[in-house]
Amino acid sequence: MQSFELLSQKFSLHFDKLSLPKQPATLYEPDEYFLKMGGKRIRPVLCLMGNELVDEIKPDAWHVATAIELFHNFTLIHDDIMDNAPLRRGIASLHAKYGVNTAILAGDVMLVTAYDHINKIDHSYLHKILHLFNRAAREVCEGQQIDMDFERSESVSFDDYLHMIGQKTSVLLAASLKMGAILGGAGERNQNLLYEFGKKLGLAFQVQDDYLDAFGDPGKFGKQVGGDILANKKTFLLIRAMEAANESGKKELKSLLRSDDPGKVNKVLQIFRDSKVDEWALQLKNKFLDGAMDHLEDIAVISKRKEPLKELAHFLVIREF
Ligand code: IPE
Ligand code: IPE
Ligand code: MG
Ligand code: MG
Ligand code: MG
Repeated sequence: MQSFELLSQKFSLHFDKLSLPKQPATLYEPDEYFLKMGGKRIRPVLCLMGNELVDEIKPDAWHVATAIELFHNFTLIHDDIMDNAPLRRGIASLHAKYGVNTAILAGDVMLVTAYDHINKIDHSYLHKILHLFNRAAREVCEGQQIDMDFERSESVSFDDYLHMIGQKTSVLLAASLKMGAILGGAGERNQNLLYEFGKKLGLAFQVQDDYLDAFGDPGKFGKQVGGDILANKKTFLLIRAMEAANESGKKELKSLLRSDDPGKVNKVLQIFRDSKVDEWALQLKNKFLDGAMDHLEDIAVISKRKEPLKELAHFLVIREF
């Protein structure tokens, strides 16, 4: 069993060897640019850990982990277009550097490349893995559309938010774990418990992502701080502040939501602070993390094998980037 640090190093070495076609360079150079930006490589590591929870890592798990990371990067390239995000992993987002049209295609071809890697696995697993992969991919698309629909909606409930982040973020973490577990030979009960662990972990992960988007240290976060506020994203911070703020705070928040002035970021942040959203963030993360751990607890393998997943889960909710 390998630690999070070791597995992510090994995965990065493996992933960095990936070679894309060279021509047209105007398409593949942008992809190289994006993949070289790095990233935490959490999802492929979850896939490898899902496998290693039950048995030594199989070659197929490396193929699927590679496909997952490519798919994830595809979603980020398109997400940055949708969110109008200038920065990613500390440097210019792909569309900011190469233009929106190229970013659309560079994302598309990365998705296709992900399927090439799925196609390398043993045929006896292909049907099941492809089914899970596609289900997650479809749900991510659905979550992303709901996320954008919410930008224009004034009343988004906390449950609506949880459903949306479950689709856009959690399902991919969950499916990564489950695909790894399948390839490692886990039984169905353990596969499903791992999926549920991933879903809860994904909620805690997105809560932290949303928190950092507002309060992250710009030097560490790697993305534009305040981007969600500028895009009128309905994060738990906004939903909480809408509930907790006093009448004048609520009124101000509503009018700020209708404004395009970049100066609104600091005003919204102040209302967030006054509403003590940081306490709420902590409560939420703990709740989802505890829920995740309950599922992990129920998995029928010796507890020592679960250590790397526990370590990764704890890192994900305190990370600063
Ligand atoms: C960003 O994911 C997208 C979300 C679902 C919040 P990560 O925070 O895993 O991004 P990288 O790959 O490490 O840059
Ligand atoms: C995006 O959520 C999730 C996906 C890319 C599917 P965010 O829009 O919050 O992700 P970041 O913050 O840009 O990484
Ligand atoms: Mg985004
Ligand atoms: Mg987004
Ligand atoms: Mg975000």
